[in-house]
Amino acid sequence: MDLLIHDLKVPLAVIEAGLMGIMNRQEKYGPITERQEKVFMRALRNTKVLKALVNDALELGKSREGVVNASRFKLSHLIEQALEELFDLTDSSAFEEIRRCTGLAQFRRVLESKGVFLSVDEDLWCGEIYQDHAKLKQILRNLLSNALKYRKSTVELNIERTEDSIIFSVKDDGEGIPSAFHKKIFECYFQMDPEDRSSCSVRGHGLGLAGVMVLVEDLGGQLELDSDEGAGTRFVVRLPLKDEIQG
Ligand SMILES: Nc1ncnc2c1ncn2[C@@H]1O[C@H](COP(=O)(O)OP(=O)(O)OP(=O)(O)O)[C@@H](O)[C@H]1O
Ligand SMILES: [Mg+2]
Repeated sequence: MDLLIHDLKVPLAVIEAGLMGIMNRQEKYGPITERQEKVFMRALRNTKVLKALVNDALELGKSREGVVNASRFKLSHLIEQALEELFDLTDSSAFEEIRRCTGLAQFRRVLESKGVFLSVDEDLWCGEIYQDHAKLKQILRNLLSNALKYRKSTVELNIERTEDSIIFSVKDDGEGIPSAFHKKIFECYFQMDPEDRSSCSVRGHGLGLAGVMVLVEDLGGQLELDSDEGAGTRFVVRLPLKDEIQG
């Protein structure tokens, strides 16, 4: 199965490169109309969604096999990338604004204009941590994507660190999740509302949280859910920070 998923990568990359080429190199391929550009943009957005799904599925497969690739990286890079990837699929102007950001203050301002409030200590933000970057990004991207999808208006991302662990809290002010569903939502394909209220053109599958749970467990961490009907939702991820010497 993983091999099959892996083989989707090359054709996907070819489709993506082709679409980008037609749009960005009109002097070579000829001019395109505004209506054509819209179609190309939609196709491109969908290849990106597919690429993210393929990468997520591969990362999950690796995780189940016990493969952890820890590396040293800046927390700011992780968060910027996770949010860039998210907005790349839903809000291209936000994506561009985030990409142009330099520094925490500016990053915070851009996010605030999108209703996302980031709270993190400057030292932690600029400092390095040692963890599995790809898995952590997948965890955050999925929790943030849900929060953005189900919020009324705001999302709060709070990051703290203790001596040997890092804690991410993702909170939204949406409808919340009744306690009767607190176990179920981590099952594959379960959705409280399969009709999907998201404005995103690509519908969810009820797989995000199941994957998050697997990744958090495989990294030796804990996932906590704090939510009730009408009371918004908060997911808290606690991960041990790896010891670089032992790997
Ligand atoms: N922040 C949230 N607020 C309210 N409901 C939520 C929230 N996060 C998840 N849920 C509920 O849990 C279900 C499962 O979430 P999950 O992320 O696994 O799937 P999805 O977002 O529907 O689709 P996918 O993640 O595969 O694109 C959602 O369909 C939704 O009903
Ligand atoms: Mg989801």
